[in-house]
Amino acid sequence: MLQIPANKPYFPEAVQAQIADEIVKVLVSGRLTQGPWIEKFEQSFAAYTKANFAIAVNSGTSALEILLRYYDVTNSEVIVPTNTFLASGNAVIFAGGKPVLADISPHTLSLDPEEVRRKITPATKGVIAVHIAGLVSPEIDEIRDICKSEGLYLIEDAAHAPGAALNNVKAGNLTDGGAFSFYPTKPMTTGEGGMITTNDPACDHLARSLRCHGIAIGEENTGANRNLLVRLGYNWRMSEIQAIVGYYQLKYLDEALSKRGQVAAWYQEALSNIPGLQLFPIPASATHSFYKYPILLEKKGSRGAVAAEMAKAHGVRCGSIYWPPCHLQPFYMDEFGYKMGDFPVAEDILDRTLALPIYPDMPYEAVQQVSKGLSVILQREGVNV
Ligand SMILES: Cc1ncc(COP(=O)(O)O)c(C=O)c1O
Repeated sequence: MLQIPANKPYFPEAVQAQIADEIVKVLVSGRLTQGPWIEKFEQSFAAYTKANFAIAVNSGTSALEILLRYYDVTNSEVIVPTNTFLASGNAVIFAGGKPVLADISPHTLSLDPEEVRRKITPATKGVIAVHIAGLVSPEIDEIRDICKSEGLYLIEDAAHAPGAALNNVKAGNLTDGGAFSFYPTKPMTTGEGGMITTNDPACDHLARSLRCHGIAIGEENTGANRNLLVRLGYNWRMSEIQAIVGYYQLKYLDEALSKRGQVAAWYQEALSNIPGLQLFPIPASATHSFYKYPILLEKKGSRGAVAAEMAKAHGVRCGSIYWPPCHLQPFYMDEFGYKMGDFPVAEDILDRTLALPIYPDMPYEAVQQVSKGLSVILQREGVNV
């Protein structure tokens, strides 16, 4: 029996050698941060997403916070789906705003446009859409229209979605700004790291200043401002070594995504006839990054028990995406008064959503082992999962 992890980064052997080579050169050069590799990585990321600007930072969370600082959410509300990693809402708080959680659409696991309409108040300044599991929901078009007519900005939390697209427009270039995470589980990684994408030169300028404490940048760095702190930022920089890793990860991203797509196709075939589970539909207009492969269990409250048995009896590490959702996290309940019952779609669907292992080098036998395990558990008569 294989031991199957939930995820695994993609570093083909030939790339490992190239990365190691370049890292040694950087170590010898002594230029370990904010050097030519950051520039090279940013330029290739901008070219890949077709955004005008890409700004490398040290995490997806800081990418989100910087975008939110650019749109100045101080004392304002930002609508965030309850189904996301906590960083999306936390970044709003760090930037001085209030995250207002909203329910999701059951088929995409992403923000429901109707909920966006319902949650808008005079204090609303913007909306964060999260491309859950690597799917850009086609409903983002409706959300964009709502934001446009209400004068709100729209940010993409594209942490799950490098290389994903809708109608061939890449994630990160579908809204007013994109935030990517390069955490090790993500479709591309720099160990830790993040990237901002924007088409707005003023946002690019502010991001470059904020990521380096708020120092004067470019043309601003002249006259009385020369080498001075002109606003309050933080150390949100990415190192040269991370940028080397990121550059090569991006170079092989399409290859990695096509391998993920193959694994997803194997899953689709292997799982389509197993009773007790449903697959999430993939709209034809979407290019999925398959960061996760979620399935929907029919039986309420069964996710935890199925995941535990998959690990114990079948060697398979599964996850949730996301349980508990933000509104049921103790901090959000204490701070904002959310409670069970607030978001019925998220509560029903996410408690039954199991994220299956997926990574580029996942072999066919591993997919078979996962589906066999699920089949055994779900078909077992009278089992109380
Ligand atoms: C949806 C989402 N947003 C934001 C983040 C934060 O990224 P990071 O861990 O790089 O700060 C993550 C991942 O960790 C994420 O999954």
